[in-house]
Amino acid sequence: MSSAPSEITSASTTFDIAAIRRDFPLLDRSVNGKPLVYADNAATTQKPNVVIERIKRYYEYENSNIHRGVHTLSEDATEAYEIARSCVKQFLNAAHESEVIFTSGTTESINLVAQSYARTNLVAGDEILVSELEHHANIVPWQMVCQQTGAILKVAPINDAGEIILEAFAELLSARTRIVAVGHISNALGTVNPVERIIELAHEVGAVVLIDGAQASIHTPMDVQALDCDFYAFSGHKALGPTGVGVLYGRASLLEAMPPWQGGGDMIKVVTFEHTEYNTLPYKFEAGTPNIAGGLGLAAALEYFMALDITAVMAHEHALLNCAIARAASIPQLQLVGTAADKAAVVSFNIEGVHPHDLGTLLDQQGIAIRTGHHCAMPVMSRLGLSGTARASFALYNTEDEVHAVFDAIEKVLPMLLD
Ligand code: ALA
Repeated sequence: MSSAPSEITSASTTFDIAAIRRDFPLLDRSVNGKPLVYADNAATTQKPNVVIERIKRYYEYENSNIHRGVHTLSEDATEAYEIARSCVKQFLNAAHESEVIFTSGTTESINLVAQSYARTNLVAGDEILVSELEHHANIVPWQMVCQQTGAILKVAPINDAGEIILEAFAELLSARTRIVAVGHISNALGTVNPVERIIELAHEVGAVVLIDGAQASIHTPMDVQALDCDFYAFSGHKALGPTGVGVLYGRASLLEAMPPWQGGGDMIKVVTFEHTEYNTLPYKFEAGTPNIAGGLGLAAALEYFMALDITAVMAHEHALLNCAIARAASIPQLQLVGTAADKAAVVSFNIEGVHPHDLGTLLDQQGIAIRTGHHCAMPVMSRLGLSGTARASFALYNTEDEVHAVFDAIEKVLPMLLD
């Protein structure tokens, strides 16, 4: 009989950048013959060993379906999956485990709210309010539900710095506003939205609030009860965890009243051809075999993150942002896009006369990974009169040397691009 692999532990229980970097094996590789500088964390983060090992251990030793079997493997996998849910509850500071629904990611979480809550509660003439900053995942599901219900999508404007204009946002709120859906942090520009105030204002008119936290999860302190939001969505893969898994937090009283949005196994108590009785929360919203390994991997990622000194992580990321802004300011041809007073370590920019894709391609030859394009946020690009930007986005394992490497490389390739 084989024995269980030993528990996986991490070296970094406090904020020690060298130890943290050792926890992320991919950071060690080279790309195009150069040491990798990974500055595309807004697209997806790298994964620490604890996550990689957790997924491997599940498939090597624990693989089994959950909530179904009486055999040991199934019972153990079920227990591990429910412990993972508790870990997410702790990360979000949700009041109950039943308020944590595993999904495939932020996109599915928002679609769930649109198709379950909005589709059944909204009628023609009701309004859904988003902002000009939103990712497509926080626009298109609402457009779809507007087509289905006759509700109207309203859009709060931003200023040239990429900040939601709060006065204009407040003016768009009325008794007709049923849902407010805004991002916590803009993936395209890095703007940190004043979500506490947005939630307060929305609640004053009786709207429910969904916060798209895809870009925020590990870049800002997290507490859904303090925020007092009604729904909060985030993805595993932008939070040091695997792709294909994410979370919808929902206030229990709202979730209880919502119908399931997908039917299948696990979301039922009793099925007959005449009548189906749905399962309790959170299972009512988790039809079919879930991404079990993904859920376990996500919990490993969040445990890893929660073991760090979060204040130190935030200070470190802020220092990276300041360093990037200072370097950007020293390149005369470079225009920053998104200069909000409150920003995460996401730096979007354009260089006069240079297509962002060309810059991205030349930087890749220097081993530097940034993202270029519209960042799944075409409306914000069009508001700013741009087709896209180059975007460097940093995470807790990046160093100031890496920020300098990005801008040194830009300075190096600039003459080729401007030739
Ligand atoms: N939404 C992700 C990004 O900002 C993919 O790059």
